[in-house]
Amino acid sequence: MGQLIAIVSQKGGVGKTSTAVNLGACLSALKQKVLLVELDPQCGLAKCVGLDGPNKGAGLIDVLRDSASPADVVHPVHPRLPRLWVVPTNIQTMAEETEYLTILHNNMAVVGRVLTQLKPSYDFIFIDTPPRLDNPTYAALATVDSYMVPIQCEYASMGTVGRVLKAALEVKRLYNAKLGIFGFLLTMADKKAGFTVRVVQEVRQYLKHHVFRTLVPRDPRLAEVPFRQEPVIAYDMQSPGAKAYIQLAREILRDTTAT
Ligand SMILES: Nc1ncnc2c1ncn2[C@@H]1O[C@H](COP(=O)(O)OP(=O)(O)OP(=O)(O)O)[C@@H](O)[C@H]1O
Ligand SMILES: [Mg+2]
Repeated sequence: MGQLIAIVSQKGGVGKTSTAVNLGACLSALKQKVLLVELDPQCGLAKCVGLDGPNKGAGLIDVLRDSASPADVVHPVHPRLPRLWVVPTNIQTMAEETEYLTILHNNMAVVGRVLTQLKPSYDFIFIDTPPRLDNPTYAALATVDSYMVPIQCEYASMGTVGRVLKAALEVKRLYNAKLGIFGFLLTMADKKAGFTVRVVQEVRQYLKHHVFRTLVPRDPRLAEVPFRQEPVIAYDMQSPGAKAYIQLAREILRDTTAT
C-alpha cells in the first residue's frame, strides 16, 4: 500500500509544484511507482508535464462530476519515466474553477474517496496543493498519511511554517488523527548567501529531525521545467537541481526502509 503525501504551504512560489514533479520523477527513476495529483486549480502541475489546455485528457473535475472514474484520469508523464503518472485537475475556465471549489466546499471527503481508490496501485502519491490554506489544501490534509512543506531559504520563512503547522494540527484533531509529518524541505538554497545559512540553522534548530538533510539549491535548470514540460532529470541529469532531487529521493527511500 502506497503512501499519500500532501505538499503544502500557503506561501506561493516556494517549490511545491517543482518538488512534486521532480521528486516524483526521481523516485520513479529509482523504481518506485509514483502518482502526482493536482489539487491546485491553477494547473501548475499539469503545465509542468505538458497536460494543460483543452483536449489533453480528463482530470479530477471529471471524477468529481461523476463523468469519469479515478482510473480514467490517470495519465503517463514521460516515455522515459514509465513508473510516473499524473492526475490533472483539467480546469479550463473560471466557471469550472468555481464549480470545482464549490464541490470541495460542499463535500471535502470526495477527494479522500478518489485518492483511497488510487492508493493501492502506487508506492507514493504526491498531492500538489494551492498556495492557500483553503478547501483543496484542507481536503488533502484530511485524507493523506503525511504532509511535506517546502521552505524557501529566505528571510522570515519560519513565520510561514508556523501557520502550516497550526492548520495541519487542526485538521489532525478534527478529521485525520493519523496525519503525520513527512518532512520539511529547504528549497532555493544559495550556500554562498549568509541568509541561507541562517535560515537553514534556524529551521533545523526548530524542526529538528523533521527537516530533510538534502538541500535543494536555487538552479535555473529547475526553473525551466514549466517551459520544457518535463522533469529536470529528463533533460539535465547533471544539473545541481537534478542531483539534489535524486539525493532527496534516496534519502526518502533510506528512511522509509529504515522504519
Ligand atoms: N530550486 C529552484 N531553483 C530555481 N527555480 C526554482 C526552484 N524551485 C522552483 N523554482 C521556480 O520557482 C517558481 C515557483 O516554484 P513552484 O511553482 O514550484 O512553487 P509553488 O510553491 O508550487 O508555487 P505556487 O504556490 O504559486 O503554486 C517556478 O517558476 C519554478 O520553476
Ligand atoms: Mg504550485
